[in-house]
Amino acid sequence: MAAQQDLDLINKIQKEIFILAQTSALLGWDQQTYMPKKAAETRAEQMSFLSSLIHEKMISDDLFDAVKRLKDKKQDLLERDKIMIEKLYKEIWKAKKLPKEFVEELSKTTSLAHNSWKKAKKEKEFNIFKSHLKKIVELKRKEAEYINLQGHPYNSLLDSFEEGMTVENLKPLFENLKNQIIGLLEKIESTETYKNQKEESYSSPSKKLHLEFVHGLTKSLGLTEEDFRLDLSEHPFTTSIGLNDTRITTNIEKGISKSFSSTIHEAGHAMHALNLPQEDHYTILWDSPSYGISESQSRFWENMIGKSKPFWQYYFPKIAKKFNINDFENWFKNINMVSPGKIRIESDEVHYCLHIILRFEIELGLIEGAINVEDLPKIWNEKMENYFGVIPENDSEGVLQDVHWSEGYFGYFPTYAIGSIYAAQLYNQLKREILNVGEDIYKGDFKRIKEWLKEKIHKYGAKILAEDLIKQVCGEPLNPDVFIQYLKNKYSEIYQF
Ligand code: CO
Repeated sequence: MAAQQDLDLINKIQKEIFILAQTSALLGWDQQTYMPKKAAETRAEQMSFLSSLIHEKMISDDLFDAVKRLKDKKQDLLERDKIMIEKLYKEIWKAKKLPKEFVEELSKTTSLAHNSWKKAKKEKEFNIFKSHLKKIVELKRKEAEYINLQGHPYNSLLDSFEEGMTVENLKPLFENLKNQIIGLLEKIESTETYKNQKEESYSSPSKKLHLEFVHGLTKSLGLTEEDFRLDLSEHPFTTSIGLNDTRITTNIEKGISKSFSSTIHEAGHAMHALNLPQEDHYTILWDSPSYGISESQSRFWENMIGKSKPFWQYYFPKIAKKFNINDFENWFKNINMVSPGKIRIESDEVHYCLHIILRFEIELGLIEGAINVEDLPKIWNEKMENYFGVIPENDSEGVLQDVHWSEGYFGYFPTYAIGSIYAAQLYNQLKREILNVGEDIYKGDFKRIKEWLKEKIHKYGAKILAEDLIKQVCGEPLNPDVFIQYLKNKYSEIYQF
């Protein structure tokens, strides 16, 4: 077959896959926002049906044969199509390595595990979840064997979230990061400011006011109703339904500062999604290069911008009257308060990566077989005590706190730390290229920042590997020292050391 015919076929099947996936994303969005409770079972069936259709199309011989033919005829292709073919080949090759029975077993196991995790978390009882997690770990070890990338077995799991990243690279890098964070925390904790700090909770006089403000916030970042929605859900998330249709959610039940920062976080994801190259829509290139890059965009807005002084110098007058807050310094210190909490999603910026490194170390131990699932609560609590100086009172605020393992997400957590580091590297570079960026933020003018991110990151979609993209923009690969320097600069000012 001629190259063009193959390309047409590949694009046709990719489009079908995307339409199914986007339909499923819409069902998923509805499930977490407006769906009536009793519809849960039917919805699960609908979504599982769509995902099996997607899987079928993805591993179909029609698609793989055409991809293989073009892989051998690369000279006939445009640069962009070469990259697309390589990416498709790798994706299908990996999917095909997993036997059908294995995929079904994993899907069945995780769906049961998810319910048992919910129950275990509610009842604060790890034993309810234990046997399910054991099964998942077994299956994940098997998956790593099937895929069998070079080096550490965990690489085969990590690669699905952070393509090209390896344990060999990440382990020493995280070890260095962990030690530096612990050193920085010791400095912060020895200051008078830290010893005298008092957490305040700020709440809204009404839900309506609260919601109005978060809506206003996304608008002032330049997101409009033309291609974007903001709704409520228990856990905030972002989902892309298609071209010009990105949705985020927020939660307004837990005080105003938390929902402000989580809204800015999700808005960062949304801006990324909305700026993906239109010409790549319905192809594997219409994506982020990795989960780490995705998270770098959200954490950049949430932390580097949304928790910066000039940002709140601009917004504080707008919230002060509405929410009866009068002390700017207090507000600013509170949203940046460093405190050794047990819960990852409530963590401050300094502790955050420690939460991730703890999970990474445990995941490695589980996949290597050096850690037994039975011992997890004990190991978790020991690590919490060592790194944070606090011990969870029960498993719900310890090993059971996150949903991810019940869903079979092993190799995913590291991307949160990678994203935080990338965000600091990008911020560092942005400040070099755009002088006085603080003044833009102080004026509530984000145009230059948004344009920079679009030019440097978003416009490439998934055409460049994450590490190469960061090297291209910042001149070096993943570098935790830049992140540590960012933390030192910011927190030495707040905590005066
Ligand atoms: Co995120």
